[in-house]
Amino acid sequence: MTDPVTNQTLEEMLAYYDVRAREYDNWWYRRGRYDRNPEDTARWHAEVNELYAVFDALSFGGDVLELAPGTGTWTRRLVRTARSVTAVDASPEMVELNRANVRDARVTYVIANLFAWEPERMYDAVCFGFWLSHVPVERLDRFLATVSRALRPGGLLFFADSFSEATALHDNYRIPGESLQIMARTLANGQKYQVVKNYHDSPSLSARFLRAELDVAVHQTATYFQYGVGVRIPHVE
Ligand SMILES: C[S@@+](CC[C@H](N)C(=O)[O-])C[C@H]1O[C@@H](n2cnc3c(N)ncnc32)[C@H](O)[C@@H]1O
Repeated sequence: MTDPVTNQTLEEMLAYYDVRAREYDNWWYRRGRYDRNPEDTARWHAEVNELYAVFDALSFGGDVLELAPGTGTWTRRLVRTARSVTAVDASPEMVELNRANVRDARVTYVIANLFAWEPERMYDAVCFGFWLSHVPVERLDRFLATVSRALRPGGLLFFADSFSEATALHDNYRIPGESLQIMARTLANGQKYQVVKNYHDSPSLSARFLRAELDVAVHQTATYFQYGVGVRIPHVE
């Protein structure tokens, strides 16, 4: 049952991230409850390094748009090469942490709901880490169309996301009776939230990008991640 996701659930997901902001990096760096055994943790870090290598090789230049930047995992790498970064996230806590972590005047922060936000200009590149899986399936085409409008023809796109989470998360499960798009998440203090979490197989995701005039090759690392690299298809005169 993949019922549409209500606005209430989207608001709950945002509240979850705002409260989770200060513990968010424990997940990425596999600290505390996320460090479950040395083998899985080592594999996680190796696959993170694969993502970083792909990302860094793209050497994002010009004016870059980052959607849902969170605590700055990708923002701090973007500022190494970009002329400017516009970072759009709806969580004030995340934005505050990103600003403190990245400390770069070339980053402009916009606090906005990505399900309503519209780009005011085109960018040379766009990237979003661990956001696509939080977009409800019934909103995916609309979201990708917004991304496409934000990107100049020929502009570069990168995304990364979760792929398989057998050992990736501490407490993450589907809720019986709820839409299959929804998962329960528990914070360190025991508070429970519902979030949207969708996994897409790579070929069908590539096809969805293409419908939005985005030519994106989607790949997977061995266990944990899916990522895509592509361009907005240039107009043929
Ligand atoms: C999984 S985190 C990804 C953070 C970062 N990109 C990374 O790779 O670590 C998801 C991000 O989406 C943001 N977010 C959640 N709902 C949102 C919404 N409706 N509009 C904009 N941002 C939202 C959260 O605040 C959080 O920063």
